Amino acid sequence: MKVIKTVSELQKIAFKHLKNGDEIGLVPTMGALHQGHESLILKSKKNDDVTIVSIFVNPAQFGPNEDYLKYPRPTTKDLQLCKKNHVDYVFMPTLNEMFPNNHKTFVEVPDLQNIMCGKFRPTHFRGVATVVVKLLNISYACNAYFGMKDFQQFKLIETIVKDLNFKTKVISCPIVREKSGLAISSRNLYLSTQEKEISSKISKILKEALRDFKNKNLSYLKKTTVNKLNKIPHIKIDYVDIVNFKDLSFADKDTKKAVLAVAVWIGKTRLIDNIIMTK
Ligand code: PAJ
Repeated sequence: MKVIKTVSELQKIAFKHLKNGDEIGLVPTMGALHQGHESLILKSKKNDDVTIVSIFVNPAQFGPNEDYLKYPRPTTKDLQLCKKNHVDYVFMPTLNEMFPNNHKTFVEVPDLQNIMCGKFRPTHFRGVATVVVKLLNISYACNAYFGMKDFQQFKLIETIVKDLNFKTKVISCPIVREKSGLAISSRNLYLSTQEKEISSKISKILKEALRDFKNKNLSYLKKTTVNKLNKIPHIKIDYVDIVNFKDLSFADKDTKKAVLAVAVWIGKTRLIDNIIMTK
């Protein structure tokens, strides 16, 4: 496994693989790797000739009062996880390598970046979009892997790749959960034992909504989900939305495939989760 720190070196190596006819898989991450990330890596290892994992805590996607500085950066452990899974290249650029002082370009998808999480994190998705586009260009990825835990992010990237005619295939990976049902996240490290226990109720509430999707109307579903979430101690809800799977527009009674997505605070930790509901 080779650790690469510069854009030019990764471009050189990836281009060589491309010329050799190798299928390149990219798994973009911000590190603090866990079983969720590992599932993406395993999928790439299965599909691709070469697997590149990028680890970059991207300041462009953090708001001014968010956790950029405190975001976990357990580099040695991350590299061990990559090595164990036979990752070929780990791309770990410095901030200056990815965003030198003279960086001026940002990628925006207004329809998708200002709803749901974007309402509460107004600059988040332009930061995500910009860094992912850069990573796709640097890595010459044939396949790029994203988790459905960040459903809005997945849709954003899927849209950019389609609209801007990238050749990369965007591949979705199911949410990996703890035994308790809690969606695994790097930010779960911030939760106390008690907070972790109560956070597991979120996925149970989503599952209950899934059961009701076929026979209850959507406003009932949303109201009961909000009421149930509000009973969790120390919770503050950012949003509970039921959207069309296809384009994130609000779902209605004719929607056959919807996503119930929530973002909540448990104490000082922001958690997101979602469930796909089909009729
Ligand atoms: P990060 O939060 O590190 O997540 C990297 C990838 O792992 C994302 O595609 C995310 O959806 C996926 N992932 C995280 N937890 C998961 C889980 N429990 N099950 C399945 N997949 C999971 O998302 C980002 O980083 C950044 O925004 C990034 C795309 C790297 C751009 O900076």
